[in-house]
Amino acid sequence: MPATWNKSDWRKKERIQMPEYTDLEALKAVESKLASYPPLVFGGEARRLKAELGEVAQGRAFLLQGGDCAESFAEFGADTIRDTFKVMLQMAMVLTYGAKLPVVKVGRMAGQFAKPRSAPTETMGGVELPSYRGDIINGFDFTPEARIPDPTRMLQAYTQAAATLNLLRAFSKGGFADIHRVHSWTLGFTDSDEAEKYRDMANRIQDTLDFMAAAGLTAETNSELATVDYYTSHEALLLEYEEALARVDSTTGQQIAGSGHMIWIGDRTRQPDGAHVEFCRGVINPIGLKCGPSLDPEELIRLCDLLNPENEPGRLTLINRFGAGKVGDHLPALIKVIEREGKNVVWSCDPMHGNTIKSESGYKTRPFERVLQEVREFFAIHKSEGTYAGGVHFEMTGKDVTECTGGLRAVSDEDLSDRYHTACDPRLNASQSLELAFLVAEEIQGRDRELATAGANG
Ligand code: PEP
Ligand code: CO
Repeated sequence: MPATWNKSDWRKKERIQMPEYTDLEALKAVESKLASYPPLVFGGEARRLKAELGEVAQGRAFLLQGGDCAESFAEFGADTIRDTFKVMLQMAMVLTYGAKLPVVKVGRMAGQFAKPRSAPTETMGGVELPSYRGDIINGFDFTPEARIPDPTRMLQAYTQAAATLNLLRAFSKGGFADIHRVHSWTLGFTDSDEAEKYRDMANRIQDTLDFMAAAGLTAETNSELATVDYYTSHEALLLEYEEALARVDSTTGQQIAGSGHMIWIGDRTRQPDGAHVEFCRGVINPIGLKCGPSLDPEELIRLCDLLNPENEPGRLTLINRFGAGKVGDHLPALIKVIEREGKNVVWSCDPMHGNTIKSESGYKTRPFERVLQEVREFFAIHKSEGTYAGGVHFEMTGKDVTECTGGLRAVSDEDLSDRYHTACDPRLNASQSLELAFLVAEEIQGRDRELATAGANG
């Protein structure tokens, strides 16, 4: 932690992408309430995640980060949480089995409520209103009342995050994630090609487990088989909320963001002298930094110095989001400066945010082909630069939505209106998520085969 850092110093910096609250009394009351509540996560957990990401930074593990674009108060419920968790487990299984690497699992969950917007207002039918900024800030309904930022929404977000995390912890440790249930995670996705591929893989895993059990290795003797470590993350956008949940970690005396295990800085709020960088640099959690086309390579080094002055592996994850066809224009220069300066980072690929388009039917969508294309470009460039493609970051839901076009069970432009539920960006559905995981596993296998061949020849 920087010696001079204080959790409210961000207030001296320019305030961007945050609401202008009008009822300052109400805001103060909410902040002091939140400050008196228990943190959602503890220092030891954030440090463990940082250590695991350190393994990713050094090429010995893979990061899988995903979940909603924006969690919503209306969609809150056990089924939504379970379905997203289940898809994450399936994807992790595909990657662990296919790539033979430990997979660090991080949900965009239990706190992913605040959204940066490209415009401060929205116009519909000639009416202009402030933009929706996520349920923690204002309401989605297109009415003047709903769009007023309401600080008490932070309390509801806290409660929802706490209940979500509670269920995730129960799922992770209470038997749901037991690897012997690898088959049962497919239930509900019975009619797709990926489900078939997944079932094949699950059969092979089952075979291995039977063999291990015969050899005396069971969930009773090895708890790793019965439980998973599952972490939470969100964009640290609403700094009043983040500050109120910051705590002193009792073990180390350092400051920790108590709102989630990992927090990230968005592509729109990563100014080195801005409020968001100022807050994030002072807490010990793993930090993500979105890297879009406008990021200047030398500025990236400045950001690394600010956010990770000790150059600790696992502290900083660079989440690349350039758009299909554009990775080659931007990523090589960033990789070169990072290598030149010897910075320890995790390189992760967000193939969602550079690929959002407006479909002919008027919906915001993401063509699945472009999502896959960006992932391929990301792997190809790391291969040619000799660096480690360490993770993926994506927006998905366990529900069978039609928000992104394409995929093996092709969603067409006309289908978008069928089940378009997102309050913000279009998400991959369960089947598309699984398809993505198989592609990533193939990319990793391809890379490792080449490394092995190079090793054998060299
Ligand atoms: C997001 O992750 O939802 C997001 C807004 O991303 P970015 O900051 O990369 O645009
Ligand atoms: Co998004």
